[in-house]
Amino acid sequence: MESNSKVVALIGLPGSGKSTVGRQLAKRWGIPFLDSDHVIEQRTGGAVRDFFALYGEEAFRDLEQTVIAELCADPAPKIVATGGGAVLREANRQVLHQHGQVFYLKASPEELYQRLRHDKTRPLLQVADPAQRLRELFAARDALYAQTAHYVIDSARLTSHQLLHRVAMQAEMAGIAPRTTS
Ligand code: S3P
Repeated sequence: MESNSKVVALIGLPGSGKSTVGRQLAKRWGIPFLDSDHVIEQRTGGAVRDFFALYGEEAFRDLEQTVIAELCADPAPKIVATGGGAVLREANRQVLHQHGQVFYLKASPEELYQRLRHDKTRPLLQVADPAQRLRELFAARDALYAQTAHYVIDSARLTSHQLLHRVAMQAEMAGIAPRTTS
């Protein structure tokens, strides 16, 4: 871990609050917010869902790896939200852990399903049984998120405001927030 790194990275399953918390945290600290999916969409000129449909998951993962490496290589203070599958690649796990201060926003598959059951944007959840898919994703990824993270924030039963507060407090206590007052 680079102790002076000012890149704060948020990881976790789809629906765990990475983008919402990331945007609010960036505002609180007065630093930029970057969402790797959004950067990919700017580069490809279309939605992640369409990219998956046209080129497949592996092509998406290649692009995601490039974008995450670029975002982490620039040490300027920023909040980075990653796509839920970023931890599947060892290269991403390493670069995030080494260059960022990583927060895993941990939520149960049941809770995520409640938040995402009407979602049409996430390609991996457009299946007959999205609740079961979320259980599988959790089983496959929970340990990967935990090993990539420096901090695990349990978001069970928290509102997005409470979750933001929890992450901000943890970061500010650890001295990794660019600014410690809001
Ligand atoms: C994915 C999560 C998505 C997006 C892509 C793949 C995943 O991001 O990167 O659809 O594998 O879990 P969010 O976690 O922001 O939904």
